[in-house]
Amino acid sequence: MARPSSVFVCQACGTTSPKWLGRCPDCRTWGSLIEEKRPGDDGGRASPSRAPAPVTAVPEDFSRRTPSGFSELDRVLGGGAVPGSVILLGGDPGIGKSTLLLQVLANMAAAGSRVLYVTAEESLRQIRLRAQRVNAGIEDLMVLSETDFGSVAATVSEFSPDAVVLDSVQALYHPDIGSSPGTISQVREIAARAVGLAKEREITTWLVGHVTKEGAIAGPRTLEHMVDTVLYFEGDSSHAYRIVRSVKNRYGSTNELAFLEMTGEGLVQVADPAGLFLPTAGHPSPGSVTVMGLEGSRPLLVEVQALVAQTPFPNPRRTVSGSELSRVLLILAVLDKRARIRTGAMDVFVNVAGGLRLTEPAADLGIALSIVSSILDLAVAPGTALCGEIGLSGEIRPVPRLEGRLKEALRLGLKRALVPAPGKGKLPVIPDMEIIPVETIEDAVKILFP
Ligand code: TYD
Ligand code: MG
Repeated sequence: MARPSSVFVCQACGTTSPKWLGRCPDCRTWGSLIEEKRPGDDGGRASPSRAPAPVTAVPEDFSRRTPSGFSELDRVLGGGAVPGSVILLGGDPGIGKSTLLLQVLANMAAAGSRVLYVTAEESLRQIRLRAQRVNAGIEDLMVLSETDFGSVAATVSEFSPDAVVLDSVQALYHPDIGSSPGTISQVREIAARAVGLAKEREITTWLVGHVTKEGAIAGPRTLEHMVDTVLYFEGDSSHAYRIVRSVKNRYGSTNELAFLEMTGEGLVQVADPAGLFLPTAGHPSPGSVTVMGLEGSRPLLVEVQALVAQTPFPNPRRTVSGSELSRVLLILAVLDKRARIRTGAMDVFVNVAGGLRLTEPAADLGIALSIVSSILDLAVAPGTALCGEIGLSGEIRPVPRLEGRLKEALRLGLKRALVPAPGKGKLPVIPDMEIIPVETIEDAVKILFP
């Protein structure tokens, strides 16, 4: 029986169907099926080109790493990029992916590597302009503007660089695949071939992938299992600070973050980010508290601000940036029920400073007390830091790595800390620091606002 020459592919989850459907039967997304041509069928006919080998015969040189020129980024990668590995860098459009990778390649070129930057989105003129802004090490940076992956692969094989950037995986296309660039089959095919090329020629390959706000259609998510390392570039494009987070790493841990700052001359790394998100010195203001947070394995002090104001409207607003709305709603309910602090007729705005996302429950106590501080219009005594998870009955629950957080707070000059009562355990002892254990949210309010 002849195979139909085309197939309908869901762009959200990759499910295929022989006929068009209005809704994907698998992930139940509406209107996501797009007709795509089947690739040419040559499966199973290749002759074996390589013989199996004993595993001990494989050279064990994974410790060989190429520095990226950003020690922060190298730490996230597990000590630099492993030659021949494929690294996917995902992130919102405009966050700075092209800038970062241009700088990484320029740094590698300056250190003597052969590098190639392939752009499928921008003109060479635009790359030139960007390169001029970041300046350092661009003399040996090779660039290529091409959207056809077939020619890209041929050029890469011939040029044989140590590292290549493909910007972006959504803008490249392969003529053998019938569908248009950016569709799920194109993106997957490009990624698969890039991985093949990387492994065969031992080329460190950086893939750029855009994440769309509407849930990453044909985006990096579908490629995560194909590559060695997945990095996400996060941050708020209205703030200068950026975070590179690894969500998968075959050559390192996924617990590390890199802090970068976007400047007029490209990205620069932030060597000591711990105090970056602290309140600016000056008057302590009502509604602002300092939270002892944790990002990856690193303690981070963060300012959380709240503004609570009476509203004449029947539906008061709750606006949250840098945390989760559901978490804030829960905290408001606990404050109401357990500490009799009512916000039912008030607008509540909560904001984490610097565009940072603070998602760990240990930030609960800070959010709650910033809200209370704003309602009472009383500032928290300067030099105070806090952390703790709030339970539904208003109890303050323990947080991981308390001692590390306290030490970091002290290093940055905060000498008083509100922490969860240790229960049967022991409170850490830190010289020169007043550590106050609290059992309930009510206690915490009484201590901070006597
Ligand atoms: P870009 O790397 O093009 O983002 P992406 O590839 O993720 O879409 O960078 C986007 C923004 O960065 C752009 O708005 C301009 C800004 N930028 C700077 O602020 N300083 C610089 O030196 C450069 C090169 C860019
Ligand atoms: Mg770009």
